[in-house]
Amino acid sequence: MLETTLIKKYDVPGPRYTSYPTVPYWKNEGFSVDKWKENLLKTFELTNKSDGISIYIHLPYCESLCTFCACHKRITKSHAVEMPYIEAVLKEWHLYVSLFAEKPNIAEIHLGGGTPSFFAPKMLQILIEGILDDAVISSNHEFSFEGHPNNTTFEHLETLYNLGFRRVSFGVQDYDPKVQKAIHRIQPFENVQKVTDFARKIGYTSISHDLVFGLPFQELSSIEDTVQKTLALRPDRIAFYSYAHVPWIKGNGQRGFDENNLPSGEEKRALYEKGRKLLEQNFYHEIGMDHFALPHDSMFISQQEGTLHRNFMGYTTTQSKVLLGLGASSISDSWTAFGQNIKEIEPYMEAVSKGEFPVFKGHVLNQEDLFIRKQILNIICQLETSWEINDWTEEEKEYLYDKLADFEADGLLQLQSLGIKVSSKGKAFVRNICMLFDKYLQANNPKEKLFSRTI
Ligand SMILES: C[S@@+](CC[C@H](N)C(=O)[O-])C[C@H]1O[C@@H](n2cnc3c(N)ncnc32)[C@H](O)[C@@H]1O
Ligand code: SF4
Repeated sequence: MLETTLIKKYDVPGPRYTSYPTVPYWKNEGFSVDKWKENLLKTFELTNKSDGISIYIHLPYCESLCTFCACHKRITKSHAVEMPYIEAVLKEWHLYVSLFAEKPNIAEIHLGGGTPSFFAPKMLQILIEGILDDAVISSNHEFSFEGHPNNTTFEHLETLYNLGFRRVSFGVQDYDPKVQKAIHRIQPFENVQKVTDFARKIGYTSISHDLVFGLPFQELSSIEDTVQKTLALRPDRIAFYSYAHVPWIKGNGQRGFDENNLPSGEEKRALYEKGRKLLEQNFYHEIGMDHFALPHDSMFISQQEGTLHRNFMGYTTTQSKVLLGLGASSISDSWTAFGQNIKEIEPYMEAVSKGEFPVFKGHVLNQEDLFIRKQILNIICQLETSWEINDWTEEEKEYLYDKLADFEADGLLQLQSLGIKVSSKGKAFVRNICMLFDKYLQANNPKEKLFSRTI
C-alpha cells in the first residue's frame, strides 16, 4: 500500500499505552482507596526484596508556559511555592512508608513535571534525602530527572549527582526560531550545549534530549537542522515525540497558535521519517515508540535482552512491579491496580495534610486486563508477542486474526501461528497495533476526544 494511503488509514486518535486499561477506561466505580492499598501491599510484599519499587515525583511548576505542552503544570514566577510542595510530597511518602511492614527498596526515582529544575538544588536535596531516609537503595538503582535547559544549573546537576542521579533528560523540542516563537519557548542551542557539557563533566552516564515532531511551522529543513544540532551534542538517548495536539485539556495553552500552522498527517509523517533516517545513519537505534538510543545505552541493551518495561513514566529499564507516583496528578501502579492522585495542587496538599492518601480514582485489573496488558507491553517494548492456543475465544480470534491479517497485508507485522512480530515499517504504527488488543477501546469506540492522533 502507498505510504500516503497508509497514513490516511492509520492516522486515528489512539492511546500511548503507558497503562492498560488506559486512564479514560478505568472502572472507577469498583475502585476505592482501600482496594488500592490492599493491591499495593500484596505486590509490595511479593516484590520489594527482589525487584524493589520505582518512585515518580511530579514537580508541577514552570516559570513560563510553552503553548504546545500537554503536561500537568502550574505557571508561576513565585518560588515561595517550593517548600510547601516538597513538604506535602514528603508527607505523602510517609503515608506509604507507614503502610509498609518493611523499608521500601528503591530501584528507581524519576523527577518529572512541570519542571524539576524550577526548584532550587537545596529543595531537591531535602526532597531526595527525605525519601531515602526511610528506604534501602538498590545496588543497581536508576535515578533520573527532567531538566529545562534554560534553568538547569551546574549546582542542580551536581547536587543530584551526589544523591545518586546518573540520568538526565533535557527538553529541547526544536531549534528553529520560528517554531520556538510559536510554542513560546525561546531556547538557544548554546543553553542546551552548556547543560549537556555540565552533565557530562559531572559524570552523568545517560543524557537524553527530548525532540518533538509535528510542531507548528516545522518543515523538513528545520527538523533536519534540529536533529543535526542534536547529533553534534551526541546525547546517549533521544526522545523523538510525536506532537500530541490535545487542545481540549483545560489550561494547557495550546490555543497559542493556529491549527492551520500544524503540519498535516502526511507532512508530520515525513518529518518523523527525516528525523529517523538521520538518527539511524548516526548509529542511534529506534526503541519501540518515540525513543532512540546509542548502542551503549541501557535502554538499547534492555530492549535487546527483552527486559524493557513501560509504565506511566514511559520506557524504563527497571523491573519494579510497584510504581509509587507522588505529587499532584501522579499515577501509581501496583501491577494489579492503578491509582491517580488529585490533579489540582491545593486540594492535593490539603488531603495529604489531613493524613489522607490523595488518590481520587483508579482501576483494579481483572485476569483479562492482566493478560491484555502483557500483550500490549510485549508489543510496545519487544515489538513482538505470543499467546497460547486457548487464550482467545472463537469470537475474539475471528476479530483479532482478521484485523491482524489486514495489518500484515499492509506490511506492518508478520503473523505467526500463535503470535505476531512488528515489522520495521510497522514500528511507526505500533500504537495502532496495540489498539487491536484493546478490549475497552473496541467496546466503547470513543465519541468524545480522549486521545491524540497516532501519526
Ligand atoms: C515535563 S517536560 C520536560 C522538562 C521541562 N519542563 C522542559 O520542558 O524542558 C516533558 C517533555 O514532554 C514533551 N511534551 C510536552 N508536551 C508535549 C506534547 N503536546 N506532545 C509531545 N510531547 C510533549 C516535551 O518534549 C517535554 O520536553
Ligand atoms: S514543556 Fe516543560 S517548561 Fe514548558 S510548560 Fe511544559 S512542562 Fe513547563
